[in-house]
Amino acid sequence: MKIMARSWPHDVTLPDPTLPLRDRLRHLLDYVRLAPSIRNSQPWRLRLGDAWVELHAERARALPVADPAGRGLTISCGAALAFLKVAAHAAGLATAIERLPGGPDKPDLLARLTITGEAKPATEEPWLLQAMPKRRTHRGVFSSHRVSPSLLRRLVALADAHGAPITLVEGPGRQVLLELAEDADRAQRRDPAFARELAAWVAPGRPGLGLPAHEDELEAIAAGAPTRLRAFAWAEPGDDPEAPTLRPARGPELDEGAPVLALLTTHGDDPEWHLRAGETLARVLLRGRVDHLWASFFGPLVEVERTRAALRERLGLAGWPQVALRLGYAGDVAPTPRLDLAEVLEEA
Ligand SMILES: Cc1cc2nc3c(=O)[nH]c(=O)nc-3n(C[C@H](O)[C@H](O)[C@H](O)COP(=O)(O)O)c2cc1C
Repeated sequence: MKIMARSWPHDVTLPDPTLPLRDRLRHLLDYVRLAPSIRNSQPWRLRLGDAWVELHAERARALPVADPAGRGLTISCGAALAFLKVAAHAAGLATAIERLPGGPDKPDLLARLTITGEAKPATEEPWLLQAMPKRRTHRGVFSSHRVSPSLLRRLVALADAHGAPITLVEGPGRQVLLELAEDADRAQRRDPAFARELAAWVAPGRPGLGLPAHEDELEAIAAGAPTRLRAFAWAEPGDDPEAPTLRPARGPELDEGAPVLALLTTHGDDPEWHLRAGETLARVLLRGRVDHLWASFFGPLVEVERTRAALRERLGLAGWPQVALRLGYAGDVAPTPRLDLAEVLEEA
C-alpha cells in the first residue's frame, strides 16, 4: 500500500473496493492530511484498526499562547474528522461517529469513526472529495466579484444542518467585526510570547509543518508589526498585477478586500461543540470550493477571548463565535505542505 509522500495530490483516487477494509481506510486517511488546521499544526494522531479510525489530539503540536484552551486544536481535529467522513462516504462506506468516546478519562481521544457497512455515496460527497486538494487558505487579494446569494444561502443551510450555524455579517456589523479584528491583532502583536510562538510556526524547522511565509514576515512578527498572516494581503492599485507588492491589509482595505464575512458559531463552547465547529467548517470550505470560492481566516478575532466576548455581545450573536472567515474569489495559490501520513498514523 503506497503512502502518499509530502507531494500534493492532483488526482483524487478511491481505494480498490476488493481490498481489505483496513487498507481502504489507510488510503482514505491520506485525505485527512489535507484538512486545514490552526498554523498548519496538524494536531492529530490517527489510530487505524480493521474497521475503525480513532482521532487523537496531538498536544505536542498545541499552541499554548494563542490557543491555551485547545479550542483551535479541537476545531482543526473536527475538520480532519469531516475530511475522513467525506472520503469514506465518497468511497461508498457507511460510517458511525462517536465524539469524545473516552469521556473525561481520555480527553485526547476526540472521535472514533467506525465503518458500519457499504452505502451509496450521497450526491455531494464525491464533489467534496474532489475539492479537497483544491482547497487552500487564500490570504491574497480577492476580486470584487460578488458571491451569489444562492451560494451563500446554500452554505448557510449546510452549516445549520451540521450543527454550527453561520452568520453572514453585513451592514454596520461589518465595521464592528473589522475594528475588533484590528484591535485583537494589535493586542496579540504587543505580546512577545505570542510573537515568539507565531514565529516558531512560520519556521518550525520540520518539513511539512507550519505556515509558508517570507523572510519579511518573520521580521514583521519579531518587530510587532502587522503581518499578512493575521488578516490578508493587499496590493497597491498601481502595482504590476503579475508581481504586486503585497502588504497586510489595514483599515478600510479590510472592508474592501472581504466580499463576504462569515462567523461560524455554536450553541455551546466545550470540546464536543468545538469538534462540531471544525466538522462544519470543513464542509463549508469544501462546498464553497466546489463553486470556486476561496476562504481565509480572521484568527485574532476568536483567539483573543476579550474580543471574542465583545464580538458576541456587539453583534448580538446567540451562539459562541468559533471561526471568522473571509470568502471571495481570486486566482490560485500554492498549497501548504503537510506531514507524511506515516508521521501521524499509528496502526492498532
Ligand atoms: C481553527 C483554525 C484557525 C485558523 N486561523 C488562521 C488565522 O488566524 N490566520 C490564517 O491566516 N490562517 C488561519 N487558519 C488557516 C491555517 O493556517 C491553514 O489551514 C493551514 O496553514 C493549512 O493551509 P491550507 O488551509 O492552505 O491547507 C486557521 C485554520 C484553522 C482550522
